[in-house]
Amino acid sequence: MVDNYAVFGNPIAHSKSPRIHTLFGEQTGGAVEYGAICSEPEEFAQDVMMFLVAGGKGCNVTVPYKQEAWELADELSDYAARAKAVNTLAFSEDGTMVGYNTDGIGIVRDLQQNHSIALQGKRILLLGAGGAVRGVLQPLLEAQPASLFIANRTASKALELAQDFAEFGKVSGGGFADIDGQFDLIINGTAASLQGELPPLPAGCLAADGCTYDMMYSAKPTAFVTWGRAQGAAQSLDGLGMLVEQAAEAFFIWRGVRPSTAPVLAQLREELKRNPS
Ligand code: ATR
Repeated sequence: MVDNYAVFGNPIAHSKSPRIHTLFGEQTGGAVEYGAICSEPEEFAQDVMMFLVAGGKGCNVTVPYKQEAWELADELSDYAARAKAVNTLAFSEDGTMVGYNTDGIGIVRDLQQNHSIALQGKRILLLGAGGAVRGVLQPLLEAQPASLFIANRTASKALELAQDFAEFGKVSGGGFADIDGQFDLIINGTAASLQGELPPLPAGCLAADGCTYDMMYSAKPTAFVTWGRAQGAAQSLDGLGMLVEQAAEAFFIWRGVRPSTAPVLAQLREELKRNPS
């Protein structure tokens, strides 16, 4: 018996999730089949239902349907409820859909475990205030940084987000012009990097020995990764590790087995170099 999973999004052709989960399946010895489904607007919920009825065990959800998946889920994990976004749905035998958000766990694991970047007591600057940033805020704050400042082009969105997560403490928000002082870790969660652009950051905002992390990734260093290197970051990383770690957490939720991420990440990096699309 093969267990079927899929990722839903639009566009979806370039998603690395099928490759990652196929490698996880091979590694853990399970019969796993994982596809990619491009849902048209308005048809996402129906497509997921059809996948469930056809015997699917669970699915991942990516742009632009994470919020719709949050609405669709019958039950939500704590992270997903607060993120107002779901990237993983697990289907129970009785057809119940449980929604999770593994993005924040993904970035925290990549930082702390893969790259030995401790978060506790650190000053974090988080750029952007869209869905990507909302999805990672709770796990980042639970790692107990000294402070976390959310800076966004539209300042009001950063302020609202900081307000929504105020109970975790140490979080504030504002515009790029409000960035003040130095940070041990600067994380880019804006879409600017994809357009080859950089958020306007003040000179000297990265502390000595500070690190930079772009939630985006590409075959060539992103604009933000290049910026981090130019600032002398101890490590300037992209988000491929986050992608693999969030997938591993989803795989664990579905199958109760934790795949080893390092060989999969190495293989993906190699494949990305060979085939940059
Ligand atoms: P996602 O789900 O990827 O986070 P989103 O919710 O549309 O997508 O959010 C995109 C984020 O990237 C926002 O924080 C956006 O800033 P605004 O809220 O001001 O729109 C940010 N962004 C997009 N392009 C940007 C650019 N060129 N420079 C700076 N920020 C940018």
